[in-house]
Amino acid sequence: MRKPLIAGNWKMYKTINEAVELANGAKRELLDFSEVDIVLCPPFTSLDSVYEVIMDTDIKLGAQNLYWQEEGAFTGEVSPIMLKDCGCEYVIIGHSERRKYFAETDETVNKKIKTALAVGLIPIVCVGETLKERESQKTIEVVQRQLQQGLKEIAKDTFSKIVIAYEPVWAIGTGKTATPQQAQEVHKFIRDWIEDNYSSDIAQKTRILYGGSVKPSNIEELMREEDIDGALVGGASLKVSSFVDITRNAVKIR
Ligand code: PGA
Repeated sequence: MRKPLIAGNWKMYKTINEAVELANGAKRELLDFSEVDIVLCPPFTSLDSVYEVIMDTDIKLGAQNLYWQEEGAFTGEVSPIMLKDCGCEYVIIGHSERRKYFAETDETVNKKIKTALAVGLIPIVCVGETLKERESQKTIEVVQRQLQQGLKEIAKDTFSKIVIAYEPVWAIGTGKTATPQQAQEVHKFIRDWIEDNYSSDIAQKTRILYGGSVKPSNIEELMREEDIDGALVGGASLKVSSFVDITRNAVKIR
């Protein structure tokens, strides 16, 4: 009932030409593939050019961040209106790299989610624990705090638009994937949290992605888990072949 979603987070990789090439490759290989929702998240500088490539397909465009004001004297920031203007429908919010290197907090994440929803962008909200937190048995506590504070005061009628991505920090870019069981445990916790705080209907509809060293060889076993609805893919989204294989393998078991 939840359509799988595979999103490629290109991070700070790809010039405009390279981004266009990658988007063209994905388009060519996945043109008639409608079993999965596909989102490409290039850097800001390539949004417009990638949009030109995919605008006549079902592949969607996403940004990797936004600022919570619609305009103003905020040098260096990009507003949600500007993202919409480039053709974005999605935006990644609260990625652990933003939290770690750019001082993002649950509070700024919350502002960004509200702004995204207000202009009609679908937020892909990232949560996840560090290795130290996992080793000290704090995973659920950390994820719960990120949900409680990051998603504070989000109205019921807009919540169903949100996508959540569980990304254990220790699995991002490290080649170490959470086992399907480790991921499922947290995904189930997230879905139960949504049920308790919103409704079981919303919980059943919300897509919860896994992120952290997703590859063509591990997506299938992850997707077997009941509460894993897709993936936020970093490194493996930078090559046409691996991104395409992940997308296709994601629905192999269905
Ligand atoms: P990775 O990154 O797939 O390279 O681990 C995932 C992410 O940061 O979203």
